[in-house]
Amino acid sequence: MTSSTVEQRAHALRVSRVVRETADALSIVFDMPADARSEFTYSPGQFLTVRIPHETGAIARCYSLSSAPAVDSDLQITVKRTQHGYASNWICDNIEPGSSLLSLRPAGMFSPRRWDADLVLVAAGSGITPIMSILKTALACHSNRVVLIYANRDIRDVIFHNGITQLEARYSHRLDVIHWLDSVDGPPIPEKLADRIAAVPPSAHAYLCGPAEFMKVAETVLLGCGVSAASIHREVFASLPTDPFAPPRSPFRPTTSLTEASQQATRVRAEIDGETHTIDWPQGEVLLDALLSENLDAPYVCREGNCGACAFTLREGEVEMLCNDTLDDYDLEKGLRLACQSVALTDTVSIAFDQ
Ligand SMILES: Cc1cc2nc3c(=O)[nH]c(=O)nc-3n(C[C@H](O)[C@H](O)[C@H](O)COP(=O)(O)OP(=O)(O)OC[C@H]3O[C@@H](n4cnc5c(N)ncnc54)[C@H](O)[C@@H]3O)c2cc1C
Ligand code: FES
Repeated sequence: MTSSTVEQRAHALRVSRVVRETADALSIVFDMPADARSEFTYSPGQFLTVRIPHETGAIARCYSLSSAPAVDSDLQITVKRTQHGYASNWICDNIEPGSSLLSLRPAGMFSPRRWDADLVLVAAGSGITPIMSILKTALACHSNRVVLIYANRDIRDVIFHNGITQLEARYSHRLDVIHWLDSVDGPPIPEKLADRIAAVPPSAHAYLCGPAEFMKVAETVLLGCGVSAASIHREVFASLPTDPFAPPRSPFRPTTSLTEASQQATRVRAEIDGETHTIDWPQGEVLLDALLSENLDAPYVCREGNCGACAFTLREGEVEMLCNDTLDDYDLEKGLRLACQSVALTDTVSIAFDQ
């Protein structure tokens, strides 16, 4: 498939319900789009990228799905107001049943790869959204034990309080919930948090989502429990610096003669949406830029190595990633790489966008 317009890559999602979760957070439930149901199939922990009107035209923001694909029939995101932030406040002030938001298909790699391992789910504030999706999936579809640690300033800030209490009652034999409230427990520090979560098995896999300092504290505690660094996964919430709805910018390419350029280029065979394309990939350029320059419809959101939307499988050849905050050792062993960060190391490379 060659490069598509925004209208082809994105879908208008209709809002069916808005649920007030706390004074500054609400959930938005979208009807599953009937004409794009397969494109909106998702894994627990993935996110949507939505377009929000702005004085400059529009901006894009990512919001994790708080619904769980095996449990909820519709798509739900949960947005918490960021102080002085633009999009989160615009959404909370303007979205109502019947509104619609343009969204890219679900993306992201913050999803458990192994559901047979015990899980430690750690969230702070709005970081509960992908964690809730993972939690509901683990409890409804699997038999592993789950520890949920959820930190907030105050009891009134706890998003999904009722839902979590109901899960705790229903799955009391498999689920331990630890609420950390700054107003009661003080700011989280490793020694105090460790006292509360002594029961974590070293073989557990951990998923962390919240402010960087909080995730650092949780990581210190989990490493102290014997959980390996490779089993600790993080989702970082940040605003997108670029607009994935806008036409992709072309990379800067120094002027060289055609012969010189093809001598320096890697020949790449790329499978995208089931179709195979062969292009020249200039030396030093990242793969995503090379594909977009050829008008090929490669997936992406952040273009910064943070979101995982551009993950592909490397079938032949070698690449090097300039940065990788997303893929873990398991993903790398499976051959996954990020197109927005990969430069070629070999003369030929074969890849597939099959995630
Ligand atoms: C994968 C992913 C999933 C996410 N999931 C969720 C989710 O489920 N729920 C959720 O609520 N959020 C989520 N986020 C965060 C979300 O995308 C936004 O970053 C968040 O809503 C803030 O956006 P905003 O436009 O309101 O704030 P912005 O306008 O982007 O502002 C962000 C911060 O920067 C400050 N700021 C803005 N402009 C300036 C300036 N000119 N100078 C100095 N400071 C400035 C603001 O005060 C604010 O503190 C997610 C992010 C990612 C990447
Ligand atoms: S586009 Fe986000 S990691 Fe590549």
